[in-house]
Amino acid sequence: MDARQLKIAAAQAALEHVEDGMRLGIGTGSTADEFVRLLAEKVADGFKIQGVPTSERTARLCMELGVPLYSLDDLPELDLTIDGADEVDGALRLIKGGGGALLREKIVASASSRMIVIADESKLVDMLGRFPLPIEVAQFGVAATRIAVERLASRLGLSGEIALRLEKDGAYLTDGNHFILDASFGRIPDAEALANGLAAIAGVVEHGLFLNMANAAIIASQNGARTLL
Ligand code: 5RP
Repeated sequence: MDARQLKIAAAQAALEHVEDGMRLGIGTGSTADEFVRLLAEKVADGFKIQGVPTSERTARLCMELGVPLYSLDDLPELDLTIDGADEVDGALRLIKGGGGALLREKIVASASSRMIVIADESKLVDMLGRFPLPIEVAQFGVAATRIAVERLASRLGLSGEIALRLEKDGAYLTDGNHFILDASFGRIPDAEALANGLAAIAGVVEHGLFLNMANAAIIASQNGARTLL
C-alpha cells in the first residue's frame, strides 16, 4: 500500500464507527479528506449524517461531494469526531495543526462525545515533539507572544526554533485570521506542563497539543488497520 492507500485504509476503518443519524465532527487534512470521500459515497447511498466541518477546506470538500453540513452553533453537541493527526503517542496524546485547523479542530472535538483519530503508522511516536508543535497566536503582539513561548520553553528545558508559519504571500493565516508559530522542540517529555503553560500565555489562542481528547486511534500499516485504545 502506498501512502494514500494507508490513509484510505484508516478512513475506511473509521467509517465503521459512524452510525446512521449521527452528528459528526469532520476533521481536516489529507487523511480526513479520504474519510470525507468515503463518507460521501455512503451519503449518496442514503446514509444520513449531520456533519460539522473543522475548517473551510473541509467544508468546501463536503459541499462538493454532497455531505450535509451544519455549523457548530446549529449542532453544539456532537456524537463523534473523526480527524487526522500529525503525531499520536501510545497514550493517545496528539500533535495537531499541521494543516492549520487546530483551533476549530479542538473546539469541535471538545463538543463531541468521542474522538477517533485516523493516521498511518508514520504518525505513531514514542514521545511527542518530532513534528513542530503548531501554536495559533493573535496577530497583535506576535513578537511578544513568541518571546513568552520561548521563555516558557526554556523554563521547561525545551529548546528549538519557534518560527512564524509562512506561505507564498507572507504569513500563513488560519480560518480565524490568526498566525501560527511552529515550535520545533524535538521531544516534549512533559506535554501536560507545556499545554498548561501555553494556555496561560495571553497571545496564545490555542495550541496543537490534544491531551485527553482522543478515545481511539486507528493506525494503518502494511498489515492493515489496528485500533489503539
Ligand atoms: C490539520 C491537522 C491534520 O489532522 C494533521 O495535519 C494531519 O494531516 P494529514 O492527514 O494531511 O497528515 O491537524 O490542522
